[in-house]
Amino acid sequence: MKRSSLVLLLASLLGAATCLFSKNYVLVEIPLSWADAEMDCRSNNMDLVSFKSNFEIHRFNEAMSEDRMTPSWIGLSKPPHALEFTQWSDGTSVQGTNWLYNEPSHSDGYDCVAVLVSGDWETFNCTETLSFFCYTWYPQIVLVKELKTWDEALRYCRTNYTDLISVTTESDFYAANKTLADQTTSVWTGLRFIDGLWFWVNEEALPSLVTVPSCPAPSFRCGAIEPGTDVLENRNCMKKMNFLCYYEILHTAFIPITRNNSFDW
Ligand SMILES: *[C@@H]1O[C@H](CO)[C@@H](O)[C@H](O)[C@H]1NC(C)=O
Ligand SMILES: *[C@@H]1O[C@H](CO)[C@@H](O)[C@H](O)[C@H]1NC(C)=O
Ligand SMILES: *[C@@H]1O[C@H](CO)[C@@H](O)[C@H](O)[C@H]1NC(C)=O
Repeated sequence: MKRSSLVLLLASLLGAATCLFSKNYVLVEIPLSWADAEMDCRSNNMDLVSFKSNFEIHRFNEAMSEDRMTPSWIGLSKPPHALEFTQWSDGTSVQGTNWLYNEPSHSDGYDCVAVLVSGDWETFNCTETLSFFCYTWYPQIVLVKELKTWDEALRYCRTNYTDLISVTTESDFYAANKTLADQTTSVWTGLRFIDGLWFWVNEEALPSLVTVPSCPAPSFRCGAIEPGTDVLENRNCMKKMNFLCYYEILHTAFIPITRNNSFDW
């Protein structure tokens, strides 16, 4: 089956010059139940769309307004009989919302949420088949689960992807944290100390607030991030750890994807 998806690029959600990662929203115009839609996003290394603030919802609605004809699933559902919608399908907690007047409905069986063409949210029967929004990161982040020294990790990322990642803004930490959901040990980032200075190897600007010592011991001059925190730490460069690479993806407005393809564009 052929599918067409619409990718909307929000250049930078926070408008920060140093933000590496932003969300890509992908509208998949194949009507599926909520659960099948979630599975479809995940099998393409994405997730059903989630929003972490009213600001993000607002930006999404602005980008979306002209491009849709029907309601589309978003990543919000609740167990049957639960009163509140508290968690996004990507595991983040619900902060901002955009309910239609008199929603969420507390009627039994209306446990899944779709965004209407107006941008308002409405509860639906989860078995209803609707188009849906997935999201992914731009650029793409890859967690490489191989044990490498920092130098080896750098070479690996630059050969197979674009580079080791930099994490400077809240959005970057959010993106990295999301990718590290199942990771328990620290991973290498592109943070390095040479000639008296910390810097990102991809030449991203370094914000002044870095949680690493200003003069680290000679072997401890490589930067890592601990999953579940937004703290960068300096580690022994020879230690073998997993690492985060990123890569640029070519993007155009409409992307045809066939069922059997992985999500490569
Ligand atoms: C939801 O839809 C299914 C399938 O059409 C139906 O069996 C079920 O009764 C519906 N639930 C509600 C609460 O309407
Ligand atoms: C690139 O990735 C492959 C595995 O996919 C790996 O065997 C190879 O060593 C990597 N290249 C570098 C330079 O690390
Ligand atoms: C990272 O994600 C987990 C859930 O996956 C969350 O509990 C935690 O607060 C997040 N941490 C940061 C710093 O964003």
